[in-house]
Amino acid sequence: TAPLRIALAGLGTVGAGVIRLLEANGELIAARAGRPLQVVAVCARDRSKDRGIDLSPYAWEDDMTALAARDDVDAVVELVGGSDGPALALARNALNGGKQLVTANKAMIAHHGMELAGIAEAKGVALKYEAAVAGGIPVIKGIGEGAAANRIERIFGILNGTCNYILSEMEGSGADFADVLKDAQELGYAEADPTFDVEGVDAAHKLAILAALSFGTAVDFGAVDISGITMIRAADIAQADALGHVIRLVGIAEPQEQEGERRLFQRVAPVLVAKDHPLAAVDGPTNAVVAEGNFVGRLLFQGAGAGDGPTASAVVADLIDIARGTVSAPFSLPVSALQKVAPADPGSRISR
Ligand code: NAP
Ligand code: HSE
Repeated sequence: TAPLRIALAGLGTVGAGVIRLLEANGELIAARAGRPLQVVAVCARDRSKDRGIDLSPYAWEDDMTALAARDDVDAVVELVGGSDGPALALARNALNGGKQLVTANKAMIAHHGMELAGIAEAKGVALKYEAAVAGGIPVIKGIGEGAAANRIERIFGILNGTCNYILSEMEGSGADFADVLKDAQELGYAEADPTFDVEGVDAAHKLAILAALSFGTAVDFGAVDISGITMIRAADIAQADALGHVIRLVGIAEPQEQEGERRLFQRVAPVLVAKDHPLAAVDGPTNAVVAEGNFVGRLLFQGAGAGDGPTASAVVADLIDIARGTVSAPFSLPVSALQKVAPADPGSRISR
């Protein structure tokens, strides 16, 4: 059977992870997908960099426009990062050229997801972004497909592995914030600009995507009320502990009735979590997402939220869906069936 021919842009933590995963599990994946997944061409900034992977089987493109335009490519994988700039240009070129697109780029989807989903819908190709939210956890598929029969009433969780790693390390050892952040960077969890992690922006990108998927609204990153963890000190963690709590950076989204109107409340903030709550046990770079559906009840998705292997797992799962032909249009960002919901007053309080 003809392989799914792939162009891979970005060979950093995640891109190199995708190559390693396809090398290790290629046969198993081909059997499950019904055909092989074949990387045809790759692109990064520095061709001479040692990435610990053999790139000789793949064509090298210096230019991402040329990568997206290749005739021998069915699907483009964007693992470059950044909400705008080269990643966005690549995504637009790929979709406009009728290629399927897989991305792990939550910043780009949070800012331009509706535009990209519109192009994908018009062109009849897939826009897949499982890896953009909660790393290796199949939460986009879980909510967009597994819980599709439900009205989602609320969604919340730990959406940033770097912050969770920092908070749980500070908790365990009383380590210094800056030292733990450095470890998280070395372990490949942090964004290229780690202020996005520690200031809550990365979690807000993910929350905005999850909220759109859960409530059938447009992605509205600007409406997320955001606080990060930079002001958290070891003394705050010790005090929370004495009160029977841990501190976690939590994102929450739920529709609320305000002044006779249906509004969407979205907030990312460090919160006190009681030690007997399931989120309190979520340590290290782990993420956890709770979705409450009106028939299924409470679902808890938990697993590795960052790092090369888990994120590559989500990227390749999207490619397997495309290879199987089970993706028609972008199943999740509902461009043609959007609900109108106003942003909520950020002063609202979480009551449950
Ligand atoms: P990274 O390690 O910084 O890798 C980025 C890659 O993009 C590098 O290979 C870099 O090339 C390449 N690149 C950057 N600018 C380029 C340009 N102008 N032209 C060509 N190539 C360019 O980043 P990452 O951690 O793999 O993250 C990639 C994406 O996945 C981001 O959107 C990130 O938010 C997302 N993500 C990451 C994780 C994670 O745990 N790391 C998890 C989920 C999602 P060089 O190597 O030559 O410099
Ligand atoms: N920097 C992100 C995090 C990577 O720490 O969660 C995964 O999206």
